[in-house]
Amino acid sequence: MKGGEHLSGGTPPDGEWTTVELTTTRQQLSEQRARLSLSALEAAAGRAGEATAASGHAFDYDVAILGLGYVGLPTALAYRAAGHRIAGIDVSAQRVDAIRRGDVDLIPSDRVLLESHRDSDGLLLTTDPSQLQRAAAVIICVPTPVSEDLSPQLDILRNACLTVVTNAVTGQLIVLTSTTYVGCTEELVVQPLRDRGLKPGEDVHVVFSPERIDPGNVQFGHEAVPRVIGGVSPACAARAVDLLGSAVEQIHVVSSPGHAEMTKLLENTFRAVNIALANEFADICRELELDVSAVIDAAATKPYGFMKFTPGPGVGGHCIPCDPHYLLWQLRRQRVAAPMITQAMHEISHRPGRVVDRAKDLLAENGIPLNGARVLIVGVAYKPNVADARESPAIEILQRFWSAGALSRYYDPLFPSVTLPDGHTLTSVANPGAHEPDIVVLHTLHRNVDLSWIGPKTLVLDATYAATDIAHRSVL
Ligand SMILES: NC(=O)c1ccc[n+]([C@@H]2O[C@H](COP(=O)([O-])OP(=O)(O)OC[C@H]3O[C@@H](n4cnc5c(N)ncnc54)[C@H](O)[C@@H]3O)[C@@H](O)[C@H]2O)c1
Repeated sequence: MKGGEHLSGGTPPDGEWTTVELTTTRQQLSEQRARLSLSALEAAAGRAGEATAASGHAFDYDVAILGLGYVGLPTALAYRAAGHRIAGIDVSAQRVDAIRRGDVDLIPSDRVLLESHRDSDGLLLTTDPSQLQRAAAVIICVPTPVSEDLSPQLDILRNACLTVVTNAVTGQLIVLTSTTYVGCTEELVVQPLRDRGLKPGEDVHVVFSPERIDPGNVQFGHEAVPRVIGGVSPACAARAVDLLGSAVEQIHVVSSPGHAEMTKLLENTFRAVNIALANEFADICRELELDVSAVIDAAATKPYGFMKFTPGPGVGGHCIPCDPHYLLWQLRRQRVAAPMITQAMHEISHRPGRVVDRAKDLLAENGIPLNGARVLIVGVAYKPNVADARESPAIEILQRFWSAGALSRYYDPLFPSVTLPDGHTLTSVANPGAHEPDIVVLHTLHRNVDLSWIGPKTLVLDATYAATDIAHRSVL
């Protein structure tokens, strides 16, 4: 889709398209909404009301959240805190039970919200997708991983969208938030709604609004992160501004779902490329015998035109290792080249192998063969302070050490055990000091992690570049 081009169908109520650039605070919301197109808003409000009345739906819930994972659960709690009645729906009974028990990974403020709301009438937790029909708005937050061959694994999102379309009722707002390729909202939500006889933009409002949450980040709560909204029509965007504006302080509206989908792909591709660049600078600095962290810190004093990215053992989590591949996959199908992104993802994917090679070299310099060496990885989470090891480079690193015959173990209080790709399960060592490793590989440093057990003679490979207290360490 070209910039500014809108999706076919879903003609807005006032019959004309407006490219809307809107940045607002909650207080300014009503004033700035006028910039959307007042007639569209009024018509939308009228139609939504009529549709609701005509369909006989007095919605029991303001918002249904489909998918209660790292993104969906904090989202549900944020909307509950904003006073909405929430239906939280997850396909996994295990996940719903864990949430009911409070046995989930949340930042402290979200944990407090869960404690106070989980038994209240305003927060339904269920596996029953038909509850979607009772909600005025539906937010889709299901995973969008990649397959072994790095192509998008879309079955989960397809199933979720099918569930939403099947249960859609007149007057509903549907918000797709899962990161995805450009045109996905059209293909998986808008067209199927039309096929069901519901007119997107009239009977049902549809937007794409990428989720930007940073799980575990206490500095930027849900309300502090601006939302981008791309509606199928201005009326759709207006409905979403009303809902999302009740839980976040700033909203930026773009002219179509495609623009919002591409916004998210740009954000995470930007990060991937810059991480690859930081890694490359780290390698260059090591060759030139310079301290890359000192160089980056110095560059970061520039108040404009520079953004700090730090090198590391690779990238993990559900975003950076996956999202750029959604774009690359789409571009391959359209025979569009993206050499810089391709190269960045290539570099990033080789980083865990580099950790193992470097550890092997350090061991060899000390006369220890990798085969049979005692290797201890510190931290297997993909980033500090989260119990999330999805796509974590540590898993590949552990597997590579294991396959090379090293006696590899790990220490991470947030992960009692991890399963390697070959099916082998390892458990976290209870007392890392007692392990007497030949080499310690620092992969993720959780807050307040105790490294005092590392003696001055222990070989240390610091893949975090952050353990400056350990003077004798080698960096990656
Ligand atoms: N985790 C992050 O840091 C992050 C940040 C920003 C955006 N995102 C994006 O948000 C989306 C969700 O990611 P996540 O990390 O929350 O995933 P997740 O794996 O933590 O959670 C997804 C939940 O959805 C449930 N689910 C799957 N299919 C379902 C269905 N058909 N109906 C109901 N529930 C279903 C799963 O059981 C799971 O509990 C992804 O597209 C991701 O790219 C993630």
